[in-house]
Amino acid sequence: MNKIVIAIDGWSSCGKSTMARQLARLLNYIFIDSGAMYRAITLFFIRNHIAIEKVDEVEKALQDIHLEFKLNSTTLNNEIWMNGENVDTLIRDIKVAERVSEVAALAQVRDFAVAQQRLIGAQKGIVMDGRDIGSVVFPEAELKIFMTADPEIRVTRRLKELQAKDPSITVEEVRKNLATRDHIDSTRAISPLRQPEDAIVLDNSNLTPDQQLDLALTWAKERIGLH
Ligand code: CDP
Repeated sequence: MNKIVIAIDGWSSCGKSTMARQLARLLNYIFIDSGAMYRAITLFFIRNHIAIEKVDEVEKALQDIHLEFKLNSTTLNNEIWMNGENVDTLIRDIKVAERVSEVAALAQVRDFAVAQQRLIGAQKGIVMDGRDIGSVVFPEAELKIFMTADPEIRVTRRLKELQAKDPSITVEEVRKNLATRDHIDSTRAISPLRQPEDAIVLDNSNLTPDQQLDLALTWAKERIGLH
């Protein structure tokens, strides 16, 4: 069957990963959450007190980071491992979210992550979500979706997710984090968050997960040539 690359980009917490994961499962494709790579690198930098303004220190740290996605046979989710440790839950912590956009803005970090993303996608049959997947990582992707949602709806969704793990998280913290990340991600010099011209815009403010998945599946099947 004709395998394609599906790139899903968009603002923080608008449900990209949820949709990408479900879509990949239905198509029997690989799902890669590119944000998980930036989050894992950030966790390593926090743990090892890396000074991000020091180019040499950053380069040296990246040499010590080995990232892998491994299938969890119970949940059937692809989880991220760093240097032999499953960090998939740890990287979702607000402390990582507070630092990730500064780290993801660094040229060496982007080169490191993008090279691995392109390798993983070389065989096609992949759904990858992030900020620059359709614009930079796979500009030739057969299907590009740009997801957006009302900012307050995004805050509410992310608050619910984070509070399930840590009830002390406040709405203000989450609102500030999303606003700061959206600002840094869309104004950074390298690969800023942009809506590719050839992307389909999906505003899911008023859509259920099933409704958005139906839309994405229809677009994917059209591109694959399945009807
Ligand atoms: O899921 P959420 O929207 O919170 O973000 P994420 O996909 O986990 O990404 C975390 C951060 O990684 C983003 O805020 C960006 O700073 C960075 N990122 C990026 O620069 N490029 C990507 N392709 C994916 C994520």
